[in-house]
Amino acid sequence: MANDSGQKVVLITGCSSGIGLRIAVTLARDEKKRYHVIATMRDLKKKDKLVEAAGDSYGKTLMLLPLDVCSDESVKQCFGHVKDRHIDILINNAGVGLMGPVESISIEEMKQVFETNFFGVVRMMKEVMPDMKKRRSGHIVVVSSVMGLQGVVFNDVYTASKFAMEGFCESMAVQLMKFNVRLSMIEPGPVHTEFETKMMENVAKMEYPGVDPDTVRYFKDVYLPSAIDVFEAMGQTPEDIAKCIKKVIESSSPRFRNLTNSLYTPIVALKYADETGGLSVNTFYNLLFNFGPLMHITMSILKCLTCSCLRRRTISPD
Ligand SMILES: NC(=O)c1ccc[n+]([C@@H]2O[C@H](COP(=O)([O-])OP(=O)(O)OC[C@H]3O[C@@H](n4cnc5c(N)ncnc54)[C@H](OP(=O)(O)O)[C@@H]3O)[C@@H](O)[C@H]2O)c1
Repeated sequence: MANDSGQKVVLITGCSSGIGLRIAVTLARDEKKRYHVIATMRDLKKKDKLVEAAGDSYGKTLMLLPLDVCSDESVKQCFGHVKDRHIDILINNAGVGLMGPVESISIEEMKQVFETNFFGVVRMMKEVMPDMKKRRSGHIVVVSSVMGLQGVVFNDVYTASKFAMEGFCESMAVQLMKFNVRLSMIEPGPVHTEFETKMMENVAKMEYPGVDPDTVRYFKDVYLPSAIDVFEAMGQTPEDIAKCIKKVIESSSPRFRNLTNSLYTPIVALKYADETGGLSVNTFYNLLFNFGPLMHITMSILKCLTCSCLRRRTISPD
């Protein structure tokens, strides 16, 4: 389960920024040098931040390859550069967000989100599975989201793409277990990365054609301020997520589901506590439309309570 030098070969998608960049650096700088990291990104012109953060591990325990998870050709070319096509750990991290009233989003834009968040992961898994199954060894990690477990208003399409991924992986995990190949989902809540910035920039550009004024008002004046509050109060850092992922891949019996933020455990539990779905739908409705100001106060209190000295998480990064 390792290359000639005894290191585990880890291939990570979407390493130009955020969580992917941080996982790549965390593993490449492992004190015991246990990992050979193949950090991939679709545009190598964006490599500078990663190279700088990797420091002297670049060229030693970390190498770069171009990879667009939406392209069969790009995936094939990337694997052509991997020695014996041997990957011990695949970390599917690349992903895109999409937020806003569904009426204003074209089917093409929605398909692009599924192309990256769902088919991108499936494409990568299909590529590594035959070899891992043959060797009866390997670990596939998928960076999903809390939104892969619980729907969130105005994130309808992004949520659907992560639910699709969860369903696919929940099914695949059983078959892969028979071949001693592990599959782990990482389910972060909000994380402070460019993801958030990119989505907010997109929202600012949106014109909401075909959307009635009430919906636009609910989205811009009710949902967005709450979303910003939630990010500020509950947001983790890419370092937190990278440490959680390192823990998962170093565990002798890695869990299938891994919520990274314990503040989300009760939220996700709502849907399992009431099989009619009423409890979670009504709770989210009330939180957003009836208790908006109360939620703002609650988030401000949470922000104080969750300062780093008081934080405890489901998979504690420390
Ligand atoms: N940030 C959050 O709040 C949050 C919460 C839960 C889950 N997540 C998940 O975490 C993962 C990483 O997101 P992040 O927060 O680190 O955001 P980010 O900083 O925007 O990083 C996303 C990465 O995915 C890459 N990417 C997008 N499309 C790609 C493609 N077709 N092929 C290869 N790479 C592609 C981006 O590359 P470019 O630079 O080329 O665009 C970038 O490197 C995503 O799967 C996201 O859904 C994020």
